[in-house]
Amino acid sequence: MDLGQFRIVSVPCADVVYIYSMEDRVTKTEHLVAAEDWISELQLADGPVVRFRHVRPEDEPLVTEAIRTSSRETLLHRFFSPIRKVSPDLLRKLLTIDRSQGACFVGVISENGKERIICGARYVRLEKPGSAEIAITVHDDFQRRGLGSYLLKMLVELARADGIRCFEADVMTSNSGMLKLLHKLHPTPSGWHRAGDVYHVTIKMD
Ligand SMILES: CC(C)(COP(=O)(O)OP(=O)(O)OC[C@H]1O[C@@H](n2cnc3c(N)ncnc32)[C@H](O)[C@@H]1OP(=O)(O)O)[C@@H](O)C(=O)NCCC(=O)NCCS
Repeated sequence: MDLGQFRIVSVPCADVVYIYSMEDRVTKTEHLVAAEDWISELQLADGPVVRFRHVRPEDEPLVTEAIRTSSRETLLHRFFSPIRKVSPDLLRKLLTIDRSQGACFVGVISENGKERIICGARYVRLEKPGSAEIAITVHDDFQRRGLGSYLLKMLVELARADGIRCFEADVMTSNSGMLKLLHKLHPTPSGWHRAGDVYHVTIKMD
């Protein structure tokens, strides 16, 4: 299936493999045929290879560390509160995904011989059939290098493959990066409704 910048190939050992190239900032993306559950990998133009896989409960220390080292602004934009320590309830919610209700994948690099989670994306089905709420996060150390764009496109394609056609997101009005990403995803969104400091964005994609 050719989707412009994306080519999606199903392989026996993984849900989906994405091959994606972005001319400027990403030099190369190769699919990784997974013996485990890798979805894709991405070579940053000026940095490490980022490998993407579904999140798992054992990621708790890596996710906790990513949150602990994030800036106040990043936490505020993602959680609407500059939390630095997540509650066990929220952690469980972030790490335990019922695949019939949504998906969450993380981007992992190898740093000093250890795994580090540097970004993540999730969608959660809403009550309206075919609708889901989406959210993505890129750690401050890796922002503005094309990862957010990559994550959003991958998330949308994954959700579309799961039957999602309507994407919703709450985005703070100060969150220029996410607003730009959503605008680029769909320049004429069906609905952008502002309530105070937050836009509720609805994007329908057939
Ligand atoms: C929003 C976020 C995901 C963007 O990720 P990113 O990796 O920096 O995004 P990209 O590098 O792909 O940039 C996408 C575009 O947005 C622009 N952009 C990114 N951050 C920006 C910022 N703070 N101000 C203005 N523009 C910004 C980039 O310049 C780029 O534009 P271009 O394609 O025209 O060059 C990231 O900043 C983040 O995780 N923020 C905190 C969590 C959050 O807000 N999540 C969204 C909750 S719904």
